[in-house]
Amino acid sequence: MMRIAVLVSGEGSNMQSIIDSTKNGNLKGIAQVVLVISNNSNAYALRRAENENIKFVCIEERKNFGNEKSFNGAILEELEKAKTNIVCLAGYMKMIGHVIIEAYHNRILNIHPALLPKFGGKGMYGHYVHEAVVKAKETESGATVHFVEKEYDNGEIIIQQKIEVFKNDSPEDVAKKVLVIEHQIYPEAIKKIIENKM
Ligand code: GRF
Repeated sequence: MMRIAVLVSGEGSNMQSIIDSTKNGNLKGIAQVVLVISNNSNAYALRRAENENIKFVCIEERKNFGNEKSFNGAILEELEKAKTNIVCLAGYMKMIGHVIIEAYHNRILNIHPALLPKFGGKGMYGHYVHEAVVKAKETESGATVHFVEKEYDNGEIIIQQKIEVFKNDSPEDVAKKVLVIEHQIYPEAIKKIIENKM
């Protein structure tokens, strides 16, 4: 069984799709979510973790740890304590530290709500992504699961799936369509790397 840790900051619907997949979907029998880490104690994702009886911890502000190194060290310590094999960023709004990327190289995944390399990089998160897609009059958008490297949104792509963007779609319309496929492709991408198909 692969042991997954999920890092979240908000709603946690992608985290939920991963958990559901370990219970009833294509991750059943091959993976389990053993740890949820959030930088935000109000994240609904933590309530979901509690409901699922999954261990969760809140590691909030760098300032509580004195410096960047000890903040990331605290995250790394929790990951190691939980014997984590795979780290999934699912709406995690902080930069992940280099020390973690080095320790878990090619084992940290992220989901981005656009077709990378388009609409990625600094400042491209949440609704900003969908607003930019609509503004650029794109006829398609989508979601990407990729490995996390030191540079933003720059790691190798594991799975990407498209949705159609219609002329009158608002950014919220695009976000809704993208979220539906996010929930499908994140568990698929995890399965792909567990089965060594990358
Ligand atoms: C998703 O759109 C994801 O692509 C992005 O942040 C959002 C998180 O949503 N990185 P949720 O917390 O999983 O519901």
